[in-house]
Amino acid sequence: MLILSAMRLPVQVLVIASYLGTLSAATTIKNSNPLIFYHGRWDESPGTWWAGSGFKLNVKNLKSMTLNLGVHTTQPLASIGVSVDYGEFNTVNVSAGANSIPLSDFVSGKNQQTVVRVNAEGWQNNRINLESIILNKGAELLPYRPSNIAFQFIGDSLSAGQFLDKGVDQAWPFLVGEAFKAEHVICAQPGAALTDIFSYGNVHGVSYQFFRTEDTGYYYTADHNFTTSWNFAKDRPTPTHLVIHIGANDASQNVTASQFVQVYESFIARLRTVYHNQPIFVFTPWGWPSSDGSISQYYQGQYQEIVDSRHKQGDHAVFLVDTTGWVQFADVFPDNVHPNVAGHQKIAKEFQSWLEGWGLRPNAHWPVMV
Ligand SMILES: *[C@@H]1O[C@H](CO)[C@@H](O)[C@H](O)[C@H]1NC(C)=O
Ligand SMILES: *[C@@H]1O[C@H](CO)[C@@H](O)[C@H](O)[C@H]1NC(C)=O
Ligand SMILES: *[C@@H]1O[C@H](CO)[C@@H](O)[C@H](O)[C@H]1NC(C)=O
Repeated sequence: MLILSAMRLPVQVLVIASYLGTLSAATTIKNSNPLIFYHGRWDESPGTWWAGSGFKLNVKNLKSMTLNLGVHTTQPLASIGVSVDYGEFNTVNVSAGANSIPLSDFVSGKNQQTVVRVNAEGWQNNRINLESIILNKGAELLPYRPSNIAFQFIGDSLSAGQFLDKGVDQAWPFLVGEAFKAEHVICAQPGAALTDIFSYGNVHGVSYQFFRTEDTGYYYTADHNFTTSWNFAKDRPTPTHLVIHIGANDASQNVTASQFVQVYESFIARLRTVYHNQPIFVFTPWGWPSSDGSISQYYQGQYQEIVDSRHKQGDHAVFLVDTTGWVQFADVFPDNVHPNVAGHQKIAKEFQSWLEGWGLRPNAHWPVMV
């Protein structure tokens, strides 16, 4: 009796003490904190859409990080890529509730300032609904300084990283962004045509959906079955270079060459209402390679026509990127003919050297020196 009650009291005191300790130890960052550098497409909840959307933090004295996610997070989980101090992105699966991010696996430990970059990897199941971020006691949020180069990529499955283990984080647009030490936002929707038609489950084409906050997955999302217009004032940072690689699904849906050219021209005209002067790089298709070495092409010559038409209208900031020969059968998964991991790396290298030839030099350093 006496022993039991004597034991009970210290345990309760200990529990209360450690509870208070936890409270005072934590640094809580609300989702509205202006030092969170959100990138890509976030809705009001706030929650991500489109592969690659996420946020960046610059933290002093970082030791631990927990993400508190809300009910609009993909169930049962969403895969995010986490990079510390501009290192490799590692996959962490997160769910609604508290998610401890295993930074110790990534943190080099030598720096007072740590940059953490987080993004949704998947072209579907890519919703993280950020409520708050809990950092260790003594951690302090500093401003994140974005790169002076900011790419906006627009495309379909060939840009979204479909079929890759780490999703968009292994796809050529992401790799190009990293190689240039640039900010990068990727609006790429597998199966979607540019033309605003139903295509492989997508209720809209990219010429419509690019101007929306949500990707076309909204239609299959019970808790957010609607789409809202994207406020381009929320682009962070404003893109400095636009890259478009699209048309495969228009071709599959039998959109004629002249219809496709018309849709593409209207799309660029509409892009110009938002992005007035930025260079726009228009990719030709690299085609669908076969095991016999042949490559099946679509809309040959049409992309040149689109670019020529812009030039005739006085817009000389639109450039054709001829990707012929960039992708061979060895560079794709044989069963779905999409680039494999090495294929994406090859495409990224090809485009990097193309851009360097054009006049864009990769940054030597990220702006937040670590
Ligand atoms: C994340 O979840 C996916 C799907 O369940 C699984 O295939 C993958 O192995 C998980 N990755 C990690 C790093 O836990
Ligand atoms: C979303 O709404 C459409 C009607 O607009 C309906 O056909 C579809 O089944 C809904 N999807 C979900 C997941 O609720
Ligand atoms: C496109 O045309 C081909 C050849 O005429 C036909 O086999 C195919 O079913 C058509 N596809 C669609 C989506 O209409």
